[in-house]
Amino acid sequence: MKVTVVGAGAVGATCADNIARKALANEVVLLDIKQGFAEGKAMDMMQGSTLLGFDTKIKGVTNDYSQTEGSDVVIITSGLPRKPGMTREELIGINAGIVKGVAENILKYSPETIFIVISNPMDTMAYLALKSLGLPKNRIIGMGGTLDSARFKFYLSQALNCSPNDLQGFVIGGHGDTTMIPLTRLATYQSLPVSHLLDQATLDKVAADTMVGGATLTGLIGTSAWYAPGAAGAALVQAILRDEKKLFTCCVSLEGEYGQKDISLGVPVVIGRNGWEKIIDFELNEEEQTRFNKSADAVRKMNDVLVDMKLI
Ligand code: 2OP
Repeated sequence: MKVTVVGAGAVGATCADNIARKALANEVVLLDIKQGFAEGKAMDMMQGSTLLGFDTKIKGVTNDYSQTEGSDVVIITSGLPRKPGMTREELIGINAGIVKGVAENILKYSPETIFIVISNPMDTMAYLALKSLGLPKNRIIGMGGTLDSARFKFYLSQALNCSPNDLQGFVIGGHGDTTMIPLTRLATYQSLPVSHLLDQATLDKVAADTMVGGATLTGLIGTSAWYAPGAAGAALVQAILRDEKKLFTCCVSLEGEYGQKDISLGVPVVIGRNGWEKIIDFELNEEEQTRFNKSADAVRKMNDVLVDMKLI
């Protein structure tokens, strides 16, 4: 199995590192436009291989797409990360052209690949890939909800003083500070509804902290986070390459599910060897559905920028 990670910045490099450590692929190609950057990161990771005991070959390349040939999965992390005080949405003008160019180059050498889109604003970048590449919709997966759901479980675990691994919970909608919807009503501690264990004020705080989870880290670190985003990218690669049929929240093309169409938005999907294989179309309550529709409206506004830029 072969995986390409485009963008050797912190998120891309962490994806590659996790994929290698977990032996998910025989080969990982790390590609970047900055001369020598991906080569250096790949070399650094490979020098840890005997210490960590992995046999995956990580190869760094500068803009040489021929080296990505035959990739089963491609993760796109290219583009600028956000700086403190910046929203993900502000990156659209710069990142849209980059993501489109990257995806087109990749397809020349890996026409059958499955894309995992991480670049921000992620919902719009996933929609751009969907509309501009002409691929079957199941082969384009936006990573955002996988990360947001992990952050949701982290904040819930802090409130409950329990292991995050004992929690189930989804964040649906957009991958934006105001567009994501942590579904506190449906989250469980093993099978016990967390709404029976925490009061409403605490649940509201967990939801609010989750929504600004990325911004909080950007404020603390000075740039966008990478450990959890890299772990989320690798978890999706694992589910695809091992055909796990695992349920994640991902940004996928909606054609009527959750009352929306002609948009890519975060919903629970089954991930397996064919990419996203099935949407679990669960009925939301009125308040959740209203929020989901609002989230769709906001993402649609961003998607309109792609039309203005003549990218779709
Ligand atoms: C985040 O940290 C990378 O969008 C990403 O939320």
